[in-house]
Amino acid sequence: MTEVELRPGLEGVPATATSVSVLDTEAEQIVVRGYDLIELAQRLAYPDVAHLLIHGHLPDRSEQEGFCRRLAQAALLPPGMEELLAALPSGMEAMDGLRTGISALAGWEDPGLLADRSPEADRAKAERLLARAPAVAAGAWRATTGRDQVRADPELGFAERFLHLVLGSVPDADAVRAFDRILTCYSEHELPNSTFAARVVASTWSDLYGAATAAVASLKGPLHGGANEASAHLLLELQAKGGAARAGAEIKERLSRGERIMGFGHRVYMRRPDPRAELLDRELPGLAARRPDGEELLQIAEAVRTVMLEEKGLYPNTDFPIGIALYLLGIPIELDTPIFYCARVAGLMAHVIEEHEHGRLYRPRVAYRGPRGQHVPEGMAPSPC
Ligand SMILES: CC(C)(COP(=O)(O)OP(=O)(O)OC[C@H]1O[C@@H](n2cnc3c(N)ncnc32)[C@H](O)[C@@H]1OP(=O)(O)O)[C@@H](O)C(=O)NCCC(=O)NCCS
Repeated sequence: MTEVELRPGLEGVPATATSVSVLDTEAEQIVVRGYDLIELAQRLAYPDVAHLLIHGHLPDRSEQEGFCRRLAQAALLPPGMEELLAALPSGMEAMDGLRTGISALAGWEDPGLLADRSPEADRAKAERLLARAPAVAAGAWRATTGRDQVRADPELGFAERFLHLVLGSVPDADAVRAFDRILTCYSEHELPNSTFAARVVASTWSDLYGAATAAVASLKGPLHGGANEASAHLLLELQAKGGAARAGAEIKERLSRGERIMGFGHRVYMRRPDPRAELLDRELPGLAARRPDGEELLQIAEAVRTVMLEEKGLYPNTDFPIGIALYLLGIPIELDTPIFYCARVAGLMAHVIEEHEHGRLYRPRVAYRGPRGQHVPEGMAPSPC
């Protein structure tokens, strides 16, 4: 049997052709349907980018109005969903509650539409999922932490409505703008593990909700989406252990023990800066004034950055500034990864639509390292169960 070349983690292997996005590391650009993601984040609002991803083009004025209207109309959870979320066990992790809720949403789709893999049907479902994901994320977290439910407010814009669901009140315009920018930075990023997971599921012609559910499970992992929460926790730990003065030494100790510092490094960028992190770093000073310890946290973050670059040659990825920014915005840390997911729904849906349209069933091979030629021992009987 001839052995195929093994690339662990499929590093550097193109797994599909796509016209959704690409990380052009040489040009230091994240290209989303031909646009620079950083320019999109600076110039437009998240729903514009979501429209670009789901519908393939930037919306004109009337498309903007129609898209915003449909997102607002679909933002309320379907009847019965609140009861389902209320039945989740107290203390369940926020990403597990989200995964359950996203999966359950399939039950409220018209069965004919659920099975329809045409781009038109997928786009209609994608819009509904995009609209509802924040209410599912916040609703599951509220239910499992004993908080009162907050209903999605159709009068608010997307980012504003999301923050209202989480915080229970409508924050000021600066907070909304920063949060909107974070959503755009998270909206799409080529083929990370969660997008690949969604594409793998969609390639079987399974439905969009199944693909979206697989992506939640993938994103939960600390090597992927969980890194934003880990970064925020890291800063708070460093704050408790002597603050900025000791942060560098503490990071060096952790590195010498072989620990990974979450929010640094990236499979594709690896030893180059992540353009999203550079953009969002510039947001942090403006957000720091929102908390009494904001400035101190930024000094700790700077100490961590310096040591990581000096010791490992690694730059922060987007999860590092976003973990800090969400904390400064007063968002509970356990919601960081659910927020990442809700923002990524736009990109995930673009990939699922593309996979349903042009995809080919993923079925890779293995490099087998196990034994051969084994035989069942003489006299061994089958199990009694
Ligand atoms: C994202 C990540 C998994 C990509 O890494 P990868 O392509 O698999 O690279 P490897 O795990 O092979 O790491 C290569 C080297 O860099 C080191 N490294 C990578 N990221 C590191 C980190 N965050 N902290 C410390 N060391 C790190 C590895 O230990 C390894 O060192 P070695 O060659 O001395 O063994 C990795 O950078 C990481 O674990 N980062 C922290 C988690 C994170 O922030 N994830 C979000 C990504 S958007």
